[in-house]
Amino acid sequence: MTKKRVLSGIQPTGNLHLGNYLGSIRNWVEHQQDYENYFCVVDLHAITAPHDPQTLAENSYTIAALYLACGISVEHASIFIQSHIPAHSELTWLLNCVTPLNWLQDMIQFKEKAIKQGENVNMGLLDYPVLMAADILLYQADKVPVGEDQKQHLELTRDIAARFNHQFAKKNPVFKVPQALIQTDGARIMSLTDGTRKMSKSDSSDLSRINLLDSPELIQKKIKKCKTDLERGLTFESIDRPECRNLLTLYMLMSGKPKETVAIECQDLGWGQFKPLLTEATIEHLRPIQAKYQAVMTDRTYLESILSDGKNQAESIANRTLTEVKAALGFSVPGT
Ligand code: TYM
Repeated sequence: MTKKRVLSGIQPTGNLHLGNYLGSIRNWVEHQQDYENYFCVVDLHAITAPHDPQTLAENSYTIAALYLACGISVEHASIFIQSHIPAHSELTWLLNCVTPLNWLQDMIQFKEKAIKQGENVNMGLLDYPVLMAADILLYQADKVPVGEDQKQHLELTRDIAARFNHQFAKKNPVFKVPQALIQTDGARIMSLTDGTRKMSKSDSSDLSRINLLDSPELIQKKIKKCKTDLERGLTFESIDRPECRNLLTLYMLMSGKPKETVAIECQDLGWGQFKPLLTEATIEHLRPIQAKYQAVMTDRTYLESILSDGKNQAESIANRTLTEVKAALGFSVPGT
């Protein structure tokens, strides 16, 4: 039986944090042997916000190296950089012409980012979800493992695929309509400084997140300073204690212990007793990832060969879909 196909990606904007890891990469790694996987570094998305041309390429390599460091294996996955495959940009244009403007104006992330970026809102920011739809639909992905914040973009992708099939390819649908794969735990990791806001690369305070490459000393400092409450006894259940739920979830996922075990272990603890446990579990979980990352980054030839193989494997599928899309839309083919 052929394996179902998975596609996902992360923007090379700053360091990856525990939210990115627990909401997405961890799930790619856990299920990679069950699927045919395509994992890209979405650098075209990264220029929808102000960016530094001096660091864009290096940031892309960093993210690709982190995919490997977190346990993605080239035996199961093609790893590539989005901008290396022109079909992503081309399909975006074609999908732009079938996507109603108001669908994009309704996107929550667009509205949030537009407020944050003030006067610096470009067309790319509005079009961001169409580029994401192109990433997914080019590969005819069955499943897309992402964090909860991407749910609406996945729904939009499904709507675009269905609309295209309905308008231009009724008899032989061109696009597979993909499904989001969102985990129950870790799909929305919250900020360390405010348990009601999600952990984010764009938060101005680095104390709000733990980055995968933070040193043990920095992790200790961030957890020591993180926001807590005045109650003793820690539980997953209390709705009015967002920091408590978030930190217990982090502890559960970093330690690898089952939820019930963590619930019993922490039910009578105070924050002073709990924080060292979370610190230790986090440092130990990230230690092998950081070591592998250093090893991968010292061998640039190896990393480049992986990205080149990944590009070749991915591009043949992407181009096949693009040809079908253009045929359905009625474009002429050169030389015929
Ligand atoms: P990006 O780079 O913002 O985030 C990458 C992944 O991390 C997840 N994530 C979180 N999960 C849990 N808790 C958090 N606090 C948290 N913050 C981020 C995101 O949900 C995402 O899965 N648009 C995408 C990138 C993208 C993509 C794609 C994803 C472009 N094309 C195609 C899947 C398929 C994004 O903004 O990722």
